[in-house]
Amino acid sequence: MIIEPRMRGFICLTAHPTGAEQNVKNQIEYVKSKGPINGAKKVLVIGASTGFGLSSRITSAFGSDAATIGVFFEKAPSEGKPGSPGWYNSAAFESEANKAGLYAKSINGDAFSKEIKEQTINLIKEDLGKVDLVIYSLASPVRTHPETGVTHRSVLKPIGGTFSNKTVDFHTGKVTEISIEPCKDDDIENTVAVMGGEDWAMWMDALKAADVLEDGALTVAYSYIGPALTEPVYRKGTIGRAKDHLEATAFEITDKLKDLNVKAYVSVNKALVTQASSAIPVIPLYISLLYKIMKEAGIHEGTIEQMQRLYAERLYTGGDIPVDEKGRIRIDDWEMRDDIQQKVAELWEQATTENLEQLGDLEGYRKDFYNLFGFDYEGVDYKADVNEVVPVKSLQ
Ligand code: NAD
Ligand code: NA
Repeated sequence: MIIEPRMRGFICLTAHPTGAEQNVKNQIEYVKSKGPINGAKKVLVIGASTGFGLSSRITSAFGSDAATIGVFFEKAPSEGKPGSPGWYNSAAFESEANKAGLYAKSINGDAFSKEIKEQTINLIKEDLGKVDLVIYSLASPVRTHPETGVTHRSVLKPIGGTFSNKTVDFHTGKVTEISIEPCKDDDIENTVAVMGGEDWAMWMDALKAADVLEDGALTVAYSYIGPALTEPVYRKGTIGRAKDHLEATAFEITDKLKDLNVKAYVSVNKALVTQASSAIPVIPLYISLLYKIMKEAGIHEGTIEQMQRLYAERLYTGGDIPVDEKGRIRIDDWEMRDDIQQKVAELWEQATTENLEQLGDLEGYRKDFYNLFGFDYEGVDYKADVNEVVPVKSLQ
C-alpha cells in the first residue's frame, strides 16, 4: 500500500516502514562514524523501540558489538493497516543487527507485568546467561500495577495552582495563551505510580532473584529537568514528582544490589520532540526556540547524538562516571548552558504567531515529529507501494 501520514490532534495514526528503516540506518551510521565504545556486551533495553531507548540499543549494538534484548509495547501491522513506528523500527534494527552478525531479540508486551519480566528473564537465561547493562526507558501514560491490579493514569499538570503561559500548536504555528488547572489529590500518586521508579526497582529485583545480572552491571534510567519556564508543568508538576521518585530509586537499587556491585544511575537528557513531549502544553514552544538556538550554536543533538555521548563520555570512559550534586548524570549540559537558556528566555518574550516561524525552529520541530513516524526522510520514495506487513524477525 501507499502509506501517508494521517494526523489526529497530536498523534499520527500511520507509520512508514521504509522511513523507519531509514531512521534506524541513519542512527547506525552515526554511531559507527564516532568509533568503538568499550561498553557492555550483553544489554537489556526496556523501552527499546523508539526515542532514547531505541538510540541506546543502537549505541550498544553498533558502538560496542553488544548482544541486545529489547522490550517494548508496539502494534503489529496487518494487511491494509500499518503497525506502530516502534514496530517498524524494531524490525529494521533486528535486520541490521543480524546482517552485522549481532544477536538481537525482542519481546513485545507490557513491561509492567510479571509475565513479560518472566519471559525476558527466560530469554536472557537461554541465550545470554547474564546481562551487564540494563537501560530503563519506558514512557507510558498508564500502568496496571502487577500486585494490586489497579490501573494508574499519569497526568501532566501543575501542583497547587493554575499555570498560565504561552504555547504553540506546531501544526499551524498559532501561539496562544493557555491555562492549565492544578492536579487533583490522587493525580500525583497516580503519576508517580506510572512514571516513577517502582517498576524499575521491580525489574532489578526480578533480574537479581533470577541471577541474570553480571557482577558490576550498570542500570540507567532517563529523566528531565528543563528551565524555569516549564517548571510549573514539568519539573514542579505531577511528572516532576515521578522523576524525583525515579531519581531516588537509583540510590535504592544501588544499595539493594551492592553485593553484586550493581550501580544504578539516572541520566538527565535533553528536551526532544517525541509523541509524549508534543502532548505537553508549553513544551513544544520551548523546544522550537531551543532547537533554533542550539542549531545556531552548532550544539543541537537528537536522541542518537545524546545516547552516543552518554555512553562514550559518561558511562564508558574507563574512569568514574561524572555526576552532579544529586548523583545524576547530566547529558542535558548543553541545553542548560546559561547562554542558551538566556537566549531562549529572550525569544520566549517576543514569540507570537506572526514571528515564530522566523524566531523559532517550527520547521525542525515538524520534521522531527514526522520523522518519529517514519515520514519526511530523505532518500525514501513515499509514492512507492510498500508492504506494510513487515515482521520483527525474533517475534515470528
Ligand atoms: P518514547 O515514547 O519514544 O519511548 C517509550 C518506549 O517505551 C517505547 O519503546 C515503547 O514501546 C515503550 N513502552 C511504553 N509503554 C510500555 C509498556 N507498558 N510495556 C513495554 N514497553 C512500553 O519515549 P522517550 O521520549 O524516549 O522517553 C524515554 C524516557 O526518557 C522517559 O523516561 C522520558 O521521560 C525520558 N526523557 C524524555 C525526554 C524527551 O524530551 N522526550 C527528555 C528527557 C528524558
Ligand atoms: Na525509549
